[in-house]
Parts: sequence; structure tokens; C-alpha cells
Amino acid sequence: MKVIVTKDYDGLSKEAFKVMKAVLDEKPNAVLGLATGSSPEGLYAEMVKDHEENGTSYKDVVTYNLDEYVGIDRNDPQSYYTFMNDHLFKHVDINPDNTHVPYGSTAEDAKKYDDEVKGVDIQLLGIGRNGHIGFNEPGTPFDERTHIVELTESTRDANKRFFDDDITKVPEKAISQGIGTVMDAKKILLIANGASKADAVKAMIEGPVTTECPASVLQNHPDCVVIVDAEAASKLSK
Ligand code: F6R
Repeated sequence: MKVIVTKDYDGLSKEAFKVMKAVLDEKPNAVLGLATGSSPEGLYAEMVKDHEENGTSYKDVVTYNLDEYVGIDRNDPQSYYTFMNDHLFKHVDINPDNTHVPYGSTAEDAKKYDDEVKGVDIQLLGIGRNGHIGFNEPGTPFDERTHIVELTESTRDANKRFFDDDITKVPEKAISQGIGTVMDAKKILLIANGASKADAVKAMIEGPVTTECPASVLQNHPDCVVIVDAEAASKLSK
């Protein structure tokens, strides 16, 4: 695990962009595993800016997102499908047919998506306050594939900010790539910012590899880069 600490969120987004751009430069038809949430917004803004200013093309890029809520429409303003279109896809020259965001509510839907996710060159991840990656909550087996998840109270509470601060509006379930699916990626880039992530970041990097902190499994990945800002790094001992 390579750990980079930046002064602030802006620095984090720029460092993360360098990692992403290196993959795109080497392989213009790269397969990107993408995440939603607050953490990657700055990185996606950097990617859009680079596309506009330097012409970096996404026309041969393929993307697979990590997760999506169950029970909200694809075009709902809070869906992860809408998030990806708003923050990245509609601003670059990607072929919409090459973008994939999981959708569905059954084990069959999950299996079908898992079978599609192939050859991911770089998987972008955020981390939950409880150490989740994707929506793999504490206790999820490390070999789990894409599945339907019951979201924890902690995750629904963290995400209520997108739902008028009303936890009752946050869906109770999601469809998520499993940890086994995530770990198949050739390279992993995890980004985290803010003091609310400090405990999870410490457990991920310095704690034991345990399903109690799903992100700790990344210690076992052969090519994982973690980029955190100073606040998220504040509890690291080294
Ligand atoms: C999102 C995802 C989640 C988030 C995590 C952090 O696709 O899979 O694991 O990365 O909940 O969310 P933010 O970045 O909003 O703090």
C-alpha cells in the first residue's frame, strides 16, 4: 500500500488525477472502476478540466461503477447514475454505451452485473466512516461478489445530507460490487478527506486485516495507492 498525504482536498484531487491520468495515457481504452459520493467530486472536476483544456479523450474508455441505491429511479436526482452523468460522463466524450452503473434489486441483477465487470485497470474508491468500500459494510466476507446490501444506520446517516437531511428518505438497500469484485482490479486508488474519515483511515492502513474494517483488505492488494488529506491522516502514527 502506497500512502500519500496532501495538505488539503484540492491537493488530494490533483494527486488522484495524476494517478488516473497516468493510466489513461498508457491505455486510452482503459477500463475505469468509478465511485460516487463527495470524495471524488474534485477528481472528476480535474478530469473534466483536463478533457476541456488538453483534449484527453474518453471515447474508448469503459467504466463500471461500484454501486447504486435500490428503489430509486435511475433518473432520480439522487441516483448514482445521475451523479456520474452530472459530474463526469456528460462533460467528456465518453460513449454512453461504455458506461455501466449497476441497477436492480435481485440476486440475479447482481450476478449479471458482476459477470459484466471485467478487466478493470484502475478502481477508484472512497471509504465510509465505518471503513466500508463500495457498500460493503463491516462484516462482509472478503470474497463476496456483487450483491444486494442492507445499508447500516451509520451509512444512511452519513448519506442523509443528499436527502434533505432526512434519514427516512435514504434508501435501505443498495446493489454493490463485492470486495472480491473490487480486489480483481489491477490497480486501486482510494481517496479520503476530512476528520470524519480519520478513524477509518487509521484502521485501514495500520489496523489488522479484518472484515470489521472492510477497507483493511486493501493491505493485501498488490498495487494500491491511498491518497488522504491532512485531516483524514491525522490519526496515523507513522
Ligand atoms: C460510493 C461508495 C461509497 C463511498 C463512501 C464515502 O460509490 O461506494 O463507499 O465512497 O461512502 O462517501 P463520501 O465520499 O461521500 O464520503
